[in-house]
Amino acid sequence: NSNNYINVTIIDRDEKLINAKAKIGSNMLDVVLDNKLDIDGFGACEGTLACSTCHVVLDSENYKTLPEPVEEENDMLDLAFGLTPTSRLACQIIVEPRMKDWIFVVPKDVNDQR
Ligand code: FES
Repeated sequence: NSNNYINVTIIDRDEKLINAKAKIGSNMLDVVLDNKLDIDGFGACEGTLACSTCHVVLDSENYKTLPEPVEEENDMLDLAFGLTPTSRLACQIIVEPRMKDWIFVVPKDVNDQR
């Protein structure tokens, strides 16, 4: 059912704009996987908060509306390449209908701390 999906934009490491279908209730790492996006090193720990490879940067208006990160997410973000004040881990962002047309920017590089 197409009502269960929204469109979001992901900007990959090469600054390519990708229109992705995002399933409501899934997380943004699942969205990257479901859309078979080839983003080098992304999602190395499969959403277990043991890496920072799923780092994405949001626009500040959108960032403010997200629930606060848990402590484990903040700890991992501290290790992320190119951390910004509006950085989150994609595997912790649950897709909601209101995220239609949001833009998720994948930083140019990745630190895999495992
Ligand atoms: Fe490792 Fe998100 S995939 S923390």
